[in-house]
Amino acid sequence: MTEHIYAHDHPESDRVRGGGFTLWFTGLSGSGKSTIAHLVGPELDRRGHFVEYLDGDTVRTRLSKGLGFSKEDRDTNIERIGWVASRITRQGGAVIAAAISPYEETRAKARGLVEEFGSFVEVYVKASVDECARRDVNGLYAKAFAGEIKGFTGVDDPYEEPRSPEVVVDTETTEPEEAAALVIAKLETLGLIAAGVRA
Ligand code: ADX
Repeated sequence: MTEHIYAHDHPESDRVRGGGFTLWFTGLSGSGKSTIAHLVGPELDRRGHFVEYLDGDTVRTRLSKGLGFSKEDRDTNIERIGWVASRITRQGGAVIAAAISPYEETRAKARGLVEEFGSFVEVYVKASVDECARRDVNGLYAKAFAGEIKGFTGVDDPYEEPRSPEVVVDTETTEPEEAAALVIAKLETLGLIAAGVRA
């Protein structure tokens, strides 16, 4: 009897939702990932997508609470984000992930998880360590250079530049609004979102 409670009206194969994708922002701390992500999100929302943010800073207070910044912990963090992104993508959502994600191989793993169900669009938010340190929004670069924080990405921990990202935005020469527009344009070109009406 209980089987009926769990029985699906349609087999899994009939349940193609489609349309989901993950936009994955990678780059140094302070490069502008979150800023651009939060400009892109509302535009996707306006175009009818269900948007979910998986922002490194937030994820680390919830899903990845307790993890540190060793390679192992960063990999675990990124794989968790990739897995959650894949589940949301499967349901047709538009995921906006923003984490340093410093390792190429781990980003590729996240891509693999997502691509089972939808597109993975990697956006490299590019800015030099010097520029990020100059911005130093939360004072962490100063501490890293002073040796008070060890293993800080770009200072004494690696950041592997993406080899073939779908989009590169250089935030030293591009304003956040312009960067967001470039990302939106790419999503349009890829056919992942409907073309917007331009003013
Ligand atoms: S990741 O490497 O695992 O992708 P994630 O994006 O989640 O990193 O978190 C990065 C944020 O954690 C940074 O923006 C910064 O505020 C903070 N942080 C604290 N310690 C470090 C560190 N050693 N390296 C980089 N970021 C750090």
